[in-house]
Amino acid sequence: FEIVKRKLCIAVKTFTIHCKHTAAMSTLLINQPKYAWLKELGLAEDNNGVYHGTWGGQGEVITSYCPANNEPIARVRQATLSEYEETVQKSKEAWKVWADIPAPKRGEIVRQIGDALRKKIDVLGRLVSLEMGKIYVEGVGEVQEYIDVCDYAVGLSRMIGGPILPSERPGHALLEQWNPVGLVGIITAFNFPVAVYGWNNALALICGNVSCLNSCPLLFTRIVAEVLEHNSLPGAICSMTCGGADVGTAMAKDERVNLLSFTGSTQVGKSVGMMVQERFGRQLLELGGNNAIIVFEDADLNLVVPSAVFASVGTAGQRCTTTRRLILHESVHDTVVERIAKAYKQVRIGDPWDATTMYGPLHTKQAVEQYLAAVEKAKEQGGTVVCGGKVIDRPGNYVEPTIITGLAHDAPIVHTETFVPILYVLKFKEEEEAFGWNNEVKQGLSSSIFTKDMGRVFRWLGPKGSDCGIVNVNIPTSGAEIGGAFGGEKHTGGGRESGSDSWKQYMRRSTCTINYSKELPLAQGIKFE
Ligand code: UN1
Repeated sequence: FEIVKRKLCIAVKTFTIHCKHTAAMSTLLINQPKYAWLKELGLAEDNNGVYHGTWGGQGEVITSYCPANNEPIARVRQATLSEYEETVQKSKEAWKVWADIPAPKRGEIVRQIGDALRKKIDVLGRLVSLEMGKIYVEGVGEVQEYIDVCDYAVGLSRMIGGPILPSERPGHALLEQWNPVGLVGIITAFNFPVAVYGWNNALALICGNVSCLNSCPLLFTRIVAEVLEHNSLPGAICSMTCGGADVGTAMAKDERVNLLSFTGSTQVGKSVGMMVQERFGRQLLELGGNNAIIVFEDADLNLVVPSAVFASVGTAGQRCTTTRRLILHESVHDTVVERIAKAYKQVRIGDPWDATTMYGPLHTKQAVEQYLAAVEKAKEQGGTVVCGGKVIDRPGNYVEPTIITGLAHDAPIVHTETFVPILYVLKFKEEEEAFGWNNEVKQGLSSSIFTKDMGRVFRWLGPKGSDCGIVNVNIPTSGAEIGGAFGGEKHTGGGRESGSDSWKQYMRRSTCTINYSKELPLAQGIKFE
């Protein structure tokens, strides 16, 4: 349980973590002139971590640290369990109002949320960069994903629904009615604090649900709250209880939370999933990945090299879609290793918010420890560090992006998702072997091949090809568009978020049979007289 607690603490972090530090020891960044824009955005030294129409936060005070220098940014007052209870009650009340509003009108509210985000995209991206440590363009990209999913949800608000099916009985109609599940609990991970909240919130809303977020993108909650309040709607339609493991556990066990959407590690996801299953609740799990790129002998290496570098170095290896295994055909192995190692050396490392920086810090000091431990294990298991492998000597949690060759495809470290920028390069001979290696890990999120062979492309997409939720050709494993369903199989949890028919997870289906005749024919032709 301690591990669960610790991981949940990490999972709920956005404006948080390093819970044990005392911020009083150094000046908060928010008070420095360089970061005056934080105050202009409405943040203060101490911020409320609870919202359900009004703001609160009586629980533990935590400090948010900047991963690029480990300086304290500001503090957040988290939710107590009684504030969580109050929030759920207010959410349930708000649902009565929200569920009565026609879906296209709900879509109009989501459209306004998207527009409000559009107006502030640059500064919001800068905030994500400061807090999470991802580079500025990736911070902006994340806000863009939220905006895009808002647009998508607005369209969906006029499209969702079920079919009218042919009834076998005369004078009968057989149809599907889709209704909102009610209250959607959302727990997001530190690495995509905005986009993942956006995917869940925008879809949950148009489907007629209210949501409760157990993480702390305070500013995003504030933007959503302003839109709701401006439209004279209850703020508890989108509530927030920024909290630790106690609040997360309460949410997982709470029968009133009709769907729990959890993004985070497989380990914590399993505990959360079991707590939800225990009460036959609904869950949407988006957990770990161990994503591979397979490069065949006919691949266009001019596509392979930038793809592999983006997907392994991008976000400093902290995407669930990050490429962790590069599976190279023996004929191209040495060339590709040489070319990506050269590209790695050109990656510009710096403050994440600087426009020219391509690579920032890891999110926490613990992640730096995990990185070092993984490099050591890889060496013990027979790996050779081709580049990287060390901590970078500068303030913040910087480590060198790392390439390791020579490991067996089934070495334990290769089968472990370490959420850091280490790329394991494997060498293969046959297609079947490479597809097998792709599938032999526990996780099943994202996968890519690089080839020009059309037969191979369709074998890859087919039943004996990739077993992942995301199956790509000639593009990297990361950087999925919002229009497709996002998620994966096996230990990745099976949930799907964002595009396609993911909206169905936020609704319950009723099969309705209506007799509009004066007879009572029974199904299957049964006579009961
Ligand atoms: C995640 O890392 O949790 O496909 C989400 C991508 C992004 C989303 C990643 N659109 O890399």
